[in-house]
Amino acid sequence: MVKDMNNKSLQWIVAPLLEWYGEQARVLPWRENSDPYRVWVSEIMLQQTRVEAVIDYYQRFMESFPNIETLAAAPEEKVMKLWEGLGYYSRARNLKKTAEVICEQYSGMFPEEYSEILKLPGIGKYTAGAVSSIAFGQPCSAVDGNVLRVITRLEENDTDIKDEKFKKQIGERLEEVYPAGYCSEFTQSLMELGATVCVPNGEPKCEKCPLKSGCGAYKNNTWQNYPVKQMKPQRKKINKTVFILSAGDKIAVRHRDEQGLLAGLWEFPNIDRKMTEEEAGRWLEQKGIEVIQIEKYKTAKHIFTHLEWYMNCYHIVCKEINDTFEWVSKEELNNEVPLPTAFRKCL
Ligand code: ADE
Ligand code: SF4
Repeated sequence: MVKDMNNKSLQWIVAPLLEWYGEQARVLPWRENSDPYRVWVSEIMLQQTRVEAVIDYYQRFMESFPNIETLAAAPEEKVMKLWEGLGYYSRARNLKKTAEVICEQYSGMFPEEYSEILKLPGIGKYTAGAVSSIAFGQPCSAVDGNVLRVITRLEENDTDIKDEKFKKQIGERLEEVYPAGYCSEFTQSLMELGATVCVPNGEPKCEKCPLKSGCGAYKNNTWQNYPVKQMKPQRKKINKTVFILSAGDKIAVRHRDEQGLLAGLWEFPNIDRKMTEEEAGRWLEQKGIEVIQIEKYKTAKHIFTHLEWYMNCYHIVCKEINDTFEWVSKEELNNEVPLPTAFRKCL
């Protein structure tokens, strides 16, 4: 249930937050200007990834695709390659799709209306609100985990933050107090406070917080109780065997399914169970691979949102390439093939 007891105005946070943001905002590449393309790409990258991890990816992305047209015209593989390592690859595919839609349906101009932005592929309420406010200065809130953490602590609110109704209510309460002319700064100040002061891991830096005078969690030293989040279901654990097949200077890869986890990316040949060296040898034989040498050399682990992979990696020297797989050089593997981090860990 969403509690109604905390429905007082949030007006009091606006002035101290804006003043603090004016003094303390980090210098970040997507804050150089308010080009909606740049803001949009940054918000998509930042959705599941920390600022420090995003910066280099963002700069390389902007160098390769400086505007919507270049992204729309780019080969998908090139976009995926630049995304390699960031994870959640559907974000990249949707970026490209959206660039195409904007070129075809909006003459290459990013739509300004919240409701139009929300229709674009891969753009939900959070991203639509962020782009509307940050790039177009509209009084639209963007409620992410940072914002929810700050507000629930301020008000010592123990509603489950996964509750969509609660999220919506916070968004609406914020929109009632959006300051005309400073919508971009207000959205970013909330995110910034959550990212740098009212931090997600460990103790918040309350002494530096511009909102501490009105903060319930500060007054009662209860920050550890907020936000309340439903327990996540356990991740499924999968044992895998991964084959690094080499023949001369070539390495075997194959294309993944267009559906499901890591859709459309590339992988090393692998199978969803643990194999002994003997079993591995037999499996390869069935694929018509002639093995010169087989060596178990590594186990690696990779965690996805709902899965954990435990990978037993074999290095196999093969007599020759065959057409069961695609064979690429090390340079191609490094520079052209979008190979997810999970598989790079096997190298
Ligand atoms: N996290 C999400 N959006 C952000 C932004 N625009 N700046 C900093 N951190 C963010
Ligand atoms: Fe978070 Fe502390 Fe600021 Fe309260 S005073 S909003 S707990 S950083």
